Amino acid sequence: MTRKRVAILISGRGSNMAALIEAARAPDYPAEIVGVLSNKAAAPGLGTAAAHGIATASLAQSRFPTRELFEDAMTRVLESWETDYVCLAGFMRILGADFVNRWMGRMINIHPSLLPAYRGLDTHRRALADGVAEHGCTVHFVTPGLDEGPAILQARVPVLPGDTPETLAARVLVEEHRIYPEALRLLATGQARL
Ligand code: GRF
Repeated sequence: MTRKRVAILISGRGSNMAALIEAARAPDYPAEIVGVLSNKAAAPGLGTAAAHGIATASLAQSRFPTRELFEDAMTRVLESWETDYVCLAGFMRILGADFVNRWMGRMINIHPSLLPAYRGLDTHRRALADGVAEHGCTVHFVTPGLDEGPAILQARVPVLPGDTPETLAARVLVEEHRIYPEALRLLATGQARL
């Protein structure tokens, strides 16, 4: 088995990144994590990745005159790692069409809602405000429309009496860490295809 080479894009904590790194430690996992790229130099996830001996890089968009040049620089880093697939894991920048098209079918994201419900930010608070009975998370292909690409896996959790955005987020996060490695497995083995 040739393991697929996967890069992870983060902006912060990196708990989903850590779940992917952990899964990829299994010898029979079909992907290896070859690099972690952050748009924030202070992202705590960079330290976690480095502690696992994984290559890291950070690029601040503010240092580039245009988004296109920033994203070209990201692509150069990803290509230097011979990246097959890209996982967005709490990467808090909207990506431009050129970058998305370049990686289309090879780039996935985890989103903390049952898409197509609650695209965008602040999903847990919005779900609670609507009084929904169920909430969850989605791993989906990244396409040019924000949070619009086809889903690979979803997981549901109940909304419980007394939930706050924080308690609900914590319940969803457990499921994120379960389905993201599973979705990457499906992608890397060709069982999930755009
Ligand atoms: C997660 O809730 C993920 O669904 C969303 O951003 C958050 C990132 O958390 N896209 P972490 O950095 O993986 O801990």
